Amino acid sequence: MIFRQLFDQVSGTYSYLLASRCGGEALIIDPVLEKVDRYLQLVRELDLKLVKAVDTHLHADHITGLGALRDKTHCITVMGEQTKADVVSMRLADGEKLTIEGVSLDAIYTPGHTDDSYSFIMPDRVFTGDTLLIRGTGRTDFQNGDPRAQYDSIFGRLLKLPEATLVYPAHDYKGDTVSTIGEEKAYNPRLQVKSREEYVALMNDLKLANPKMMDVAVPANMKVGLHQEEIARRGWAVTAEQALALAGRPDVALIDLRERSERERHGIIPGALHVPYTALQENIAAGGMLHELAKSTGKRLLFYCAFGERSAMAVQAAQDARLSSACHLQGGLAAWKAAGGSVEQ
Ligand SMILES: [Fe+2]
Repeated sequence: MIFRQLFDQVSGTYSYLLASRCGGEALIIDPVLEKVDRYLQLVRELDLKLVKAVDTHLHADHITGLGALRDKTHCITVMGEQTKADVVSMRLADGEKLTIEGVSLDAIYTPGHTDDSYSFIMPDRVFTGDTLLIRGTGRTDFQNGDPRAQYDSIFGRLLKLPEATLVYPAHDYKGDTVSTIGEEKAYNPRLQVKSREEYVALMNDLKLANPKMMDVAVPANMKVGLHQEEIARRGWAVTAEQALALAGRPDVALIDLRERSERERHGIIPGALHVPYTALQENIAAGGMLHELAKSTGKRLLFYCAFGERSAMAVQAAQDARLSSACHLQGGLAAWKAAGGSVEQ
């Protein structure tokens, strides 16, 4: 496995680059905007293909690199389903898997620091975001933080992991890079409490100043979505109402870009072909299945995904591959459902 812990000195943020092999797919957890060029250089040097950029939660102390990485690599942006970030292209729920080629992480909902905090578990390690830090825990006094929820997330979930599990947090300000669940259980001063009430009292008594970047970072991080208007302005988008009329027509091929887990959880539009977004390029290139389908049958390709983010990128890529009739469902399956479109489970 390729595993790199990357550090942003300004915000004290750790970001993590993961891949199963050189030449394979990669994902990055908690990227920082100012470091995006450095990440991309490393991705190139290791001959990786960045396919997912993930935030453990909406950060208040730095601007996320999710939007810039998406713009530069067309990767999928991922957060938990509770996030208020305007639209990330894929939202995970508790118990779902975050996967790339050769790597699978279990997403668990660990609220408390914020109400959208997730941790990501691998067999030997856990990425804890700001829920559990090394000899500390993330503050709970803003962004709908809740010390009760954090106690439950830490004691009820993270500390139940095997003691040897490596702990990789989103921040450290002292220079520590990694810990273990056993070590934190024994030596984390915040965890030496006898009850939830004692933990809540401790957290409510911290009296911390707000992070310097908070007024800038929180609003900026809520706007990581693509600007789908530009795609619409070019005539490459259809509204959910228009899609309702197009679905099922013999001259239209609906293409579902989501992953299997999303299809199982949220349902599919009847009759749609399944082409996961990560397999799109090979499908729309000359000789690819979608390319040949569009060319030989004259069918119009109508892409959709969860919220219209991946499909907006897909329609641009298809247009670049000279599939000039390609369009996408603006707002994705969420808009389709809101317009009364039927969904098959
Ligand atoms: Fe945070």
